[in-house]
Amino acid sequence: MAKVKMVAGEWGSLATDTQLTKEQIETKARGLLGQMSLDEKIHQMSGDTPLLSGGYEMMYTYNARPIPAGENLRLGIPGIRFSDGPRGVVMGNSTCFPVSMARGASWDVDLEERIGDAIGVEARSQGANFYGGVCINLLRHPAWGRAQETYGEDPHHLGEMGAALVRGVQRHIMACAKHYALNSMENARFKVDVRVKEGALREIYLPHFKRCVDVGVASIMSAYNKVNGQWCGHHTHLLREVLKGEWGFEGFVVSDFMWGVRDTKSAALGGLDIEMPFTRFYGKKLKRLVERGEVPEAVIDEAVLRILRQKIRFAQVGEPGRYDPSAVVSPAHQALAREAAQKSIVLLKNEASEKGGKPLLPIDRSSVRRIAFIGKLAPTPNIGDHGSSQVRPPYVITPLEAFRSYASDLSIDYDNGGKMDSAVEIARQADLVVAVVGYTHVEEGEYIPRVLFWPAKGGDRASLRLAEEDEKLIINLAGANPNLVVVMMGGSAIVTEAWREQAPAILMAWYPGMEGGKALVDVLLGEVNPSGKLPCAFPKSEDQLPFFDRDAVSIEYGYYHGYRLMDKKGYAPAFPFGFGLSYTTYEYSNLSLEREEIGLDGKLQVGVDITNRGQVAGEEIAQLYVGYPHAEVERPVKELKGFARVSIQPGETRRVEFNLLAQRLAYYDESEGWTVEPGDYKVYAGPSSDPQVLLGTGFRIRAS
Ligand code: BGC
Repeated sequence: MAKVKMVAGEWGSLATDTQLTKEQIETKARGLLGQMSLDEKIHQMSGDTPLLSGGYEMMYTYNARPIPAGENLRLGIPGIRFSDGPRGVVMGNSTCFPVSMARGASWDVDLEERIGDAIGVEARSQGANFYGGVCINLLRHPAWGRAQETYGEDPHHLGEMGAALVRGVQRHIMACAKHYALNSMENARFKVDVRVKEGALREIYLPHFKRCVDVGVASIMSAYNKVNGQWCGHHTHLLREVLKGEWGFEGFVVSDFMWGVRDTKSAALGGLDIEMPFTRFYGKKLKRLVERGEVPEAVIDEAVLRILRQKIRFAQVGEPGRYDPSAVVSPAHQALAREAAQKSIVLLKNEASEKGGKPLLPIDRSSVRRIAFIGKLAPTPNIGDHGSSQVRPPYVITPLEAFRSYASDLSIDYDNGGKMDSAVEIARQADLVVAVVGYTHVEEGEYIPRVLFWPAKGGDRASLRLAEEDEKLIINLAGANPNLVVVMMGGSAIVTEAWREQAPAILMAWYPGMEGGKALVDVLLGEVNPSGKLPCAFPKSEDQLPFFDRDAVSIEYGYYHGYRLMDKKGYAPAFPFGFGLSYTTYEYSNLSLEREEIGLDGKLQVGVDITNRGQVAGEEIAQLYVGYPHAEVERPVKELKGFARVSIQPGETRRVEFNLLAQRLAYYDESEGWTVEPGDYKVYAGPSSDPQVLLGTGFRIRAS
């Protein structure tokens, strides 16, 4: 590829040792704008990569180096230098963390912020100043091919996790939250028109973006799809009115790559600041429109000021001693990847294989000497999609390899399950069987349509079940050996009805990253007590989910999906949102409120005791939900409004306190805007969204 000339140094003429105030940043940005010709201004607004040679390179080695946009050599202003994610840094051979859906299952905002910090350091050490890997689209339906790139189905949870990643990354470089908005279908992403009413848009599909804006995210990436008839990259309502207007977003909007802009004038007027990664619709075409008066120069100035402000802001950010090639995949980052995998594995089921016996897990080393690993995925480095989020770590520890190296006192047999008879025979001879089954990048991932000779790849799942041969394998293994542990891999919910009853122990490992195999050994052997909880409900069948058609040209997104839909319809899922077991048991008690009534702007402290009733220490994820039984408008039965991960010793009781703001309970009224309804509310606290396990009480919001 023709090399793009880049300004020397990380921040060129913007580098500074002193901290500038907001006013000083403004003055500096306006000063630079004043020195720019119209060409230079417009040059800030699109990618510098040459279309043909650059496009070719991207097809082969996507994001091998930062993707620049808006390098100004004359004034020494560097471009944004883009690196993708979210599993880590796509450039080079970087640390591969578990996918975001797995990290969502950790419900650990502190951990997510530390992952953000590691990503920021690794990206900057490889020349990037912009991280395009904060994916916070809401998982409406688990068939979405890119489900693994986001954190789950709930806006509050998504917002907290996304904001944590932003905080961590932005200690070092700019972060970009994507894909704004309602991008949760893959195959149809370039054509689908998502129809949504303003209430569902504001309450369900946007709050997590607002949360990232509130913590100062530098950039937002617009989505490919249409919303209510308009492309997201041109969307005046989403970009200008809501994001830049109501929310007061001070950063800049970049387009999703290649097909994120369809028309020069609509994009510029709609509020899209940078076209990525090439200059197709901006550049000369935009200049012509300005000269003809069809796009006011003020629109250009506004976009360029937004870009310059963030560049100046981030030229002062960082911890200079930390950026070095040796920081990439450092021992500390490897340990972090392992911690993340340990905390994200969800124990879904853990029963005894015979009546009156002990639960199968953790593996009892006094009776289990011989383990049979079955399934193609046991020795496969299965770390997720091969689309734009693919990270290429220097190594991946697979489950089989990890057992062989870290549990070398056990005798390990392996069969790939391809021939049923041999798999069953090996299972029969073992003390315990571990079947590793599930999805890979072949069955789910980013959808890349066919281009010339490159075949199409990835896409939305065709089914939510395991492959037929995997289901048969599990059933036959269970028949051969009752001590069966099923480990599932995948980017979102899996339907397990066909075999669930027959497997006494089930774990969801997601795509657990480069240290995933080791984390799995830690959990199976009980060196780590599992603590992950589902960030999306696992349904019994697709009938418990909203309508989904992966080829839809138009689709209606409503108020209900995931646990909100289960609650409304009274469905019992296979495994509820927020559910996960551990090797100990927790008891919730003493749910109490600081007071019974608050005002419209009031705050309420909610407390609950959690006691560890088992023999081992553990970490529990406590959840707080609010219900609106007497609402005058349509509202979900309950919604997540808080969560906390707490570590509790055996026999210990910890009190968890949550702060509830009345304003956070508002609904969106099309004429009145955000409205807090006075009246009676319910509060629930407990270990998952399952109504059976939640403690409940009530409070009132006064009209004044
Ligand atoms: C994806 C984005 C990604 C961009 C750059 C697009 O196809 O939707 O998530 O950041 O490509 O590769």
